[in-house]
Amino acid sequence: MGTHLSEIFSQSLTAREQLKTKLGVLELNTPLTVASGTFDLENLEFFDPSCLGAFVCKTITKEPQKGNPQPRLYETEAGLLNSIGLQNPGLDLFIAEKLPKYREVLEMPLIVSFSGSSIDEFAEILMRLEACSGISGYEVNISCPNVENEGIAFGISEEIVYKLVQRLSSMTERELCIKLSPNVTDIAAIAQAAEAAGASSIALINTLYGMAIDYQTGVSRIKKGIAGYSGIGIKPTALALTYKTAQAVKIPILAMGGIYSWQDALEFIWAGASAIAIGTANFVNPLSAFEIIMGLGEYLLARNLKLQDIKGGVTI
Ligand SMILES: Cc1cc2nc3c(=O)[nH]c(=O)nc-3n(C[C@H](O)[C@H](O)[C@H](O)COP(=O)(O)O)c2cc1C
Repeated sequence: MGTHLSEIFSQSLTAREQLKTKLGVLELNTPLTVASGTFDLENLEFFDPSCLGAFVCKTITKEPQKGNPQPRLYETEAGLLNSIGLQNPGLDLFIAEKLPKYREVLEMPLIVSFSGSSIDEFAEILMRLEACSGISGYEVNISCPNVENEGIAFGISEEIVYKLVQRLSSMTERELCIKLSPNVTDIAAIAQAAEAAGASSIALINTLYGMAIDYQTGVSRIKKGIAGYSGIGIKPTALALTYKTAQAVKIPILAMGGIYSWQDALEFIWAGASAIAIGTANFVNPLSAFEIIMGLGEYLLARNLKLQDIKGGVTI
């Protein structure tokens, strides 16, 4: 099945011109990427990887992380709750084992997602990654607690986001995409702070807060109680925050949040996204990314449109 669909994609090469997009310093062959933590190399066996414009890996941290206790996933009536935590092998193992595999397999740009618990730690991780070849850019996950600020997430303070991004942007020429949390009062102000400090693109949204309780026993469905909420139910929020941010910054937006179909993807492009990421939909249908890019390509070809003709063109 995968092979058959790959052939169809290869045959529709002409669609590629329409699909080209820019994400900061990167030229992407297609606007489609995968959301951090929802997709890894094994998912690529389902379809032709060249339909992805870039590959974003699971967030890595300096030290290995075990992640949160079980149960940590729960499917709600309208999307997914996850409390995986930033489970990952840590920076050393990532560089020694994971990165060489990515280099061997991936032909599209690799964007490494990373996170830290202090500005110094973010900078230390970036310094180590800068010394590695085969990385085209970074997605900086700022939804994590800041140990220097009472454990409050980095992403909620414009001042801290400015300081963090200024430090990181002075260290790299690679793509520097800042991934924003939706759990803030004014996402556009946070995006502006990141832009002013030298970010080359913005990714949004990370998960909303969510919770589910077994109504009979009163027991939380997730061991930690509050979890990250993603998938179909967050699409209207993600779309609104994409639109709001696109009105506020000039740098490109990599948008995500409940994108399950090519029609969803188009909505985000109308709202102002330059590229989009598929997250929870990968769990629902492993061919989502492929079907979305095929649908987008066909839509644009049939109307002789480029992505740029649509981007940000929503009528209010
Ligand atoms: C199981 C799971 C793990 C995730 N892990 C990460 C992660 O490591 N880093 C990150 O920045 N976002 C992570 N996310 C958030 C997604 O990248 C994405 O921002 C969010 O799920 C919204 O997109 P979606 O509705 O298409 O899933 C995770 C989401 C899920 C569902």
